[in-house]
Amino acid sequence: MTRPWTATVLTIFPEMFPGPLGFSLSGKALEKGLWKLDAVDLRSYATDRHRTVDDTPFGGGAGMVMRPDVVARAVDDLAAGGAPGPRIYLTPRGERLTQARVRQWAEEPGLLLLCGRYEGVDQRVIEARGFREVSIGDFVLSGGEIPAMAVIDACVRLLPGVVGDAASLEEESFNEGLLEYPHYTRPQLWEGRPVPEVLLSGHHAEIRAWRRRQALEITRRRRPDLLPTLS
Ligand code: ADE
Repeated sequence: MTRPWTATVLTIFPEMFPGPLGFSLSGKALEKGLWKLDAVDLRSYATDRHRTVDDTPFGGGAGMVMRPDVVARAVDDLAAGGAPGPRIYLTPRGERLTQARVRQWAEEPGLLLLCGRYEGVDQRVIEARGFREVSIGDFVLSGGEIPAMAVIDACVRLLPGVVGDAASLEEESFNEGLLEYPHYTRPQLWEGRPVPEVLLSGHHAEIRAWRRRQALEITRRRRPDLLPTLS
């Protein structure tokens, strides 16, 4: 059997994993062996008695910076052990994650995710070990662990066999470059609010057209940047 898609996570908090990834869709898929998780303690690659992984920044300033030698030792050891796939460093300075990128990464044999804490990681090891800097959005979290979980979750749900009804993946947000249309279920009338009439009509072509219009409208209002510009 070929090896399952593998997320290797380098972190000073390996106990945070699988965390939420151990539940629901990703958790069941993990149990089934559809993907594999290897959370590695960065501190085990420190060489001093106190297992130090960080130091003060050259040039001064607040916070601490993760040492390049410790990170490199960890990465080289994991690479020798066969940790597969692109190397990603989670940072708000990174390029913004997109669903298109997630689809690419789900096709890889896995990912090596480096989680920073403190002020960040020495830039030299990011460059020397070929890490791609990735942000999950324009806001700052206190470390890369939650962003790493977000990346893993986004990839895992696209792996074959993880989502039972693959059709639901085809209609979701961003798949056609649009936000998704709204959903409704029973009761048909709730707090005086009816379900849009067309959804009860049974006219599949009309429903499809209505959903498409809704998707276009909500995208135009919320995320006009996603719409192709007419030039
Ligand atoms: N680390 C802290 N904030 C982050 C973000 N928004 N994206 C990726 N990594 C981060």
